[in-house]
Amino acid sequence: MSGIRPTGYLHLGNYFGAIRNYIKMQENYECFFMVADLHSLTTHPDTKELKQNVHRVLAENIACGLDPEKAALYCQSHIHEISELYMYLNMLAYKGELEKTATFKDKVRQHPQNVNAGLLTYPVLMATDILVHRAKYVPVGKDQEQHLEMTRNFAQRFNYRYGDVFPEPVAFNFGEDLVKIPGLDGSGKMSKSENSMATLYLADDDESIRKKIKKAKTDAGPMEPNTPKPDYIENIFLLMKLVSPADVIEKFENDYATANIRYGDMKAQLAEDMVTFIAPIRQKTKDIMQNESYLKQVMEQGAEKARKSAAATLLQVRQSMGLQYY
Ligand code: TRP
Repeated sequence: MSGIRPTGYLHLGNYFGAIRNYIKMQENYECFFMVADLHSLTTHPDTKELKQNVHRVLAENIACGLDPEKAALYCQSHIHEISELYMYLNMLAYKGELEKTATFKDKVRQHPQNVNAGLLTYPVLMATDILVHRAKYVPVGKDQEQHLEMTRNFAQRFNYRYGDVFPEPVAFNFGEDLVKIPGLDGSGKMSKSENSMATLYLADDDESIRKKIKKAKTDAGPMEPNTPKPDYIENIFLLMKLVSPADVIEKFENDYATANIRYGDMKAQLAEDMVTFIAPIRQKTKDIMQNESYLKQVMEQGAEKARKSAAATLLQVRQSMGLQYY
């Protein structure tokens, strides 16, 4: 089970850090992939663009290879069982631990004028998303590890108090596949919201892709053979390894090792290979977004699968809690 907030455009970091993992996972597991629209309300109370953003995130994931026939692909707000379980779990979550959560402290700093209760209990809602399916594996990055640990705590507390209902979920990835995609400016990583020139979005047109890569940080090149690569050069090689053919990578590795590299050429080559990678995803996303009846069908189909799984859990939850009076 995993969730994606419908805030902003997906980028290369989302693709290689998360989506590629989902696509592989759907082949071997019963998967639930959810658009976390309720979560987005904790920081984005203005819902003018919500529908568009939900459609986009669904379309982008499908364009990348997520298959609504294989996995359950659904919206959080369509599953009322989530809201119900969220309330029960809220009674097992303590103010102190919620206030200590790193993401909460970050958001308080970023939006001091909107420190709402939903923001405080964000980890409870995320725990609910996972526990409502009694999911065991959660494909997420490092930034979600604390939330996952809290999920295990809530599960333990529930089980201890009311009886064994929930397994304890763990982070999941396919071995080496979880790469962190660096920003093009040589600092930090690609981001949905910050520094759009350093981030390659799946929606970028060919010219933007070329422009951004052209501007990526380089230097005059190594002065002598076998110089270690500075971080920002390592980053360009890393991007190349994701999208370029093996012989191209080998050529530039050789050029670097022999101190003959021309970064202008390397970036031009990377830009073309990146365009070849991103353009079909962008086009497919556009086609899907224009097909509202298909998106509706995907959401209905996904919600049906998710509801079935969630309803079975809630039945057990209410029984264990003693919320059944006849
Ligand atoms: N909190 C996650 C993020 O910010 C999104 C999310 C919501 C999620 N519910 C989830 C991730 C359940 C994994 C499982 O990226």
